[in-house]
Amino acid sequence: MYTAAVLTVSDRSFRGERPDEAGPLAASLLEEAGYQVVETAVVPDEQPEIEAALIRLADESRIALIVTTGGTGFSPRDVTPEATLAVCERLTPGIPEAMRAASLAITPRAMLSRAAAGIRGGSLIVNLPGSPKAVRENLEAVLPALGHGLKMLLGGPTDCYLS
Ligand code: MTE
Repeated sequence: MYTAAVLTVSDRSFRGERPDEAGPLAASLLEEAGYQVVETAVVPDEQPEIEAALIRLADESRIALIVTTGGTGFSPRDVTPEATLAVCERLTPGIPEAMRAASLAITPRAMLSRAAAGIRGGSLIVNLPGSPKAVRENLEAVLPALGHGLKMLLGGPTDCYLS
């Protein structure tokens, strides 16, 4: 069982003006998929605060899968992808490519998500958009493959042909 954390990025949820529905939904989807969700947090749409939270979850808590929700759109304060790219050592573009490909079959607005994903140390960081609907649709598109990726990242040598 891999550990997971959910980081909600939202000014309004951080200020208590809007209940965070997307974060708890992401956490329950991850738990249903067999992850042990050990941390959840809410930060405002501030790049330094997002970066600090991601670094803490990766380097101190050593979470295997860190999922963010929110801040991937076009509004001036949407900077979650920039924070993610700044802290990742290696990018995993196939994950957001798969999320957008699956989501484009549902809504053309899927192309407006600038979500990124990448690896920092032993952590995989994956951005999701902010609405609960988008969280479900994007996470369900990639969850079936993430375990194999984490096994490669954390479990030593694996054979893609066998597992
Ligand atoms: N992807 C899916 N599957 N379903 C959605 O409803 N919403 C889109 C897009 N991705 C959506 C989606 C919209 S409207 C936007 S603006 C972007 O995600 C960015 O969302 P965010 O700013 O909440 O991160």
